[in-house]
Amino acid sequence: MSVPTISTEELRELLDRGAGGGVTVLDVRPAAERAEWSIPGSLHVDAYDALRRGDPHALDGFQPSNGGRVVTVCGAGKTSRLAVEQLRARGFDAVSLEGGMRGWSLAWNTAEVLDSRSSARIVQVRRTGKGCLSYLIGSDGEAAVIDASLDPRVYVELAGRSSWRIRSVIETHVHADHLSRARALAAVTGATLFLPQTDRLSFEYAPLTEGNTVAVGAGHVRVLHTPGHTPESSCYLLDEAALFTGDTLFLEAVGRPDLEATPEEARTRAGLLHRSLQRLLELASGTAILPAHTSAPVAFDRQAIVGRLGEVRQRTELLRAGEAEFVEAILARIPRTPPNHHRIVALNEAGTLPEGDPTELEAGANRCAVA
Ligand SMILES: [Fe+2]
Repeated sequence: MSVPTISTEELRELLDRGAGGGVTVLDVRPAAERAEWSIPGSLHVDAYDALRRGDPHALDGFQPSNGGRVVTVCGAGKTSRLAVEQLRARGFDAVSLEGGMRGWSLAWNTAEVLDSRSSARIVQVRRTGKGCLSYLIGSDGEAAVIDASLDPRVYVELAGRSSWRIRSVIETHVHADHLSRARALAAVTGATLFLPQTDRLSFEYAPLTEGNTVAVGAGHVRVLHTPGHTPESSCYLLDEAALFTGDTLFLEAVGRPDLEATPEEARTRAGLLHRSLQRLLELASGTAILPAHTSAPVAFDRQAIVGRLGEVRQRTELLRAGEAEFVEAILARIPRTPPNHHRIVALNEAGTLPEGDPTELEAGANRCAVA
């Protein structure tokens, strides 16, 4: 029997309409896989093994929670088809998510960051299926994109909705857990590609150093070199009001200092990170903190993921430690390394994207934070 399917983009658009898109998303993966990452609002039945062995009762007891349509999801879109067959036999209008959670890693949504202290508007572009946050800043018909992690067409379309032209594409650092789309976006739009000055890159870019500014319409983005997560990591301060922190500072955590580093280098970087963070803490406590990642799937709720610097300081114990204590604490709490990070870094240093499907390399949650 041919099994009806739904694409990531179709499901993304449904969920983006609100009210759960009128569908029930049913995740049939093993609990351990679901614990790593899931679709916001989805239900879970740990039916993977039962479906694989052909147990006709694998989904007994399941009831849709939201409308009559059911979208089944698994890791790669195969076992979810078995779930569709069972549910259709029970009379449900069920479809399988094409490519499963791997394909879903490209799903996104947006939220406007409301900050009246800057003349520019900020749109947070959230790769919900992976936790990557990028930003579209617009003012006076011009726009800049920070940390592009999605297909260039997404940013071009979003900028077009506000009649902005993307003039600048800016990276906070060389990323290790997603493939940067910055160079591709700059190529498509003719925008200037800015990165913090580093000898790591084998392509042409406009180097940014401490104190440089990039104009976005009437707004100004000022560069703060904040080494630690990586040597070149930089934060960008928009109109003294909003700080794009990359992986240097999150809302309840700080960046990890160990990727592509020896143990001694990680220790040195942890010290640098402490100094960089202390410097950020000198900014106004009302500064909006806008990081490059979040550690949970992003809901389709149009609520920006943002915190005031004062709140972030309150919530993040590591920010209150002295340097020696900070270094020991952070090195003791390093999480597992992101999958494929050596290959991802190599591609990002070369400024290239792999042939074909990028989600194979990018699979898995991001792991750039230490809490
Ligand atoms: Fe990073």
